[in-house]
Amino acid sequence: MTELEIRNLHVRAGDKAILRGVDLTVGKGEIHALMGPNGSGKSTLANAVMGHPGLEVTDGQIFFRGEDVTEADPDERARMGLFMAFQYPVSVPGVTVTKYLRTVMNAHREARGEEPIPLRDFRQTVEAAMKLTNVPREFSSRYLNEGFSGGEKKRMEILQLALQRPELAILDETDSGLDIDALRIVANGVNAVAGPDMGVLIITHYQRILHLVQPSHVHVMYQGRIVREGGPELVDQLEARGYGWITEELDEAA
Ligand SMILES: Nc1ncnc2c1ncn2[C@@H]1O[C@H](COP(=O)(O)OP(=O)(O)OP(=O)(O)O)[C@@H](O)[C@H]1O
Ligand SMILES: [Mg+2]
Repeated sequence: MTELEIRNLHVRAGDKAILRGVDLTVGKGEIHALMGPNGSGKSTLANAVMGHPGLEVTDGQIFFRGEDVTEADPDERARMGLFMAFQYPVSVPGVTVTKYLRTVMNAHREARGEEPIPLRDFRQTVEAAMKLTNVPREFSSRYLNEGFSGGEKKRMEILQLALQRPELAILDETDSGLDIDALRIVANGVNAVAGPDMGVLIITHYQRILHLVQPSHVHVMYQGRIVREGGPELVDQLEARGYGWITEELDEAA
């Protein structure tokens, strides 16, 4: 079964057309990488899949687990099992990591008609997730994202992923300020959490991270379209040659 199917997606923000016919399918248990130069539309695609209210779908459809969610509100998508880690996470002063995680978890449970998770079960679940993702214990009593280093924000992201076990995870990785350790946190976390039931779409400029997570499919976006697709070998080609050879070919053909 396919987790995510994007068909001929056209998206605009205000009067600016950003996505101009994107087709992309992520199957169950597959890891896909989305690459492409700055401003090509990668984050916009991720936001459109999550149902960002500032974006307008002018054509095409988004299917999640076979259901058309093009018009569904963001809450509903999240409830269905879509998860996104943001490129620029916000900090929430005064809310600890533990409190935040519990609030999120209970919101999901409530949406499924379940009771709030008992404190003991919550502690056990978080402890297991922390162990799995190598997050230190003291982390849980800190305030959410307040003064977090780039690497710590990544830990938070992965911890949430481990707790929520979404059907489809979209990870939009910022390209600034992350050292190799932070990349490793993300990569190890994805490898630990991903499995036959979770599809992953990872957006990154870093070839390095893609050597660590090993996507089965690689897509390159340019000017709001997917212009190249391939397997892991495409990562090496981009590493060696940059995006120039792709964009020049396309600009010539245009
Ligand atoms: N709300 C908006 N209003 C106007 N233009 C926008 C809006 N959101 C995105 N854009 C524009 O759409 C284009 C694509 O942006 P997007 O953030 O999707 O690129 P990206 O591929 O994620 O880039 P990066 O690699 O730098 O993260 C950019 O030119 C951006 O300025
Ligand atoms: Mg982006």
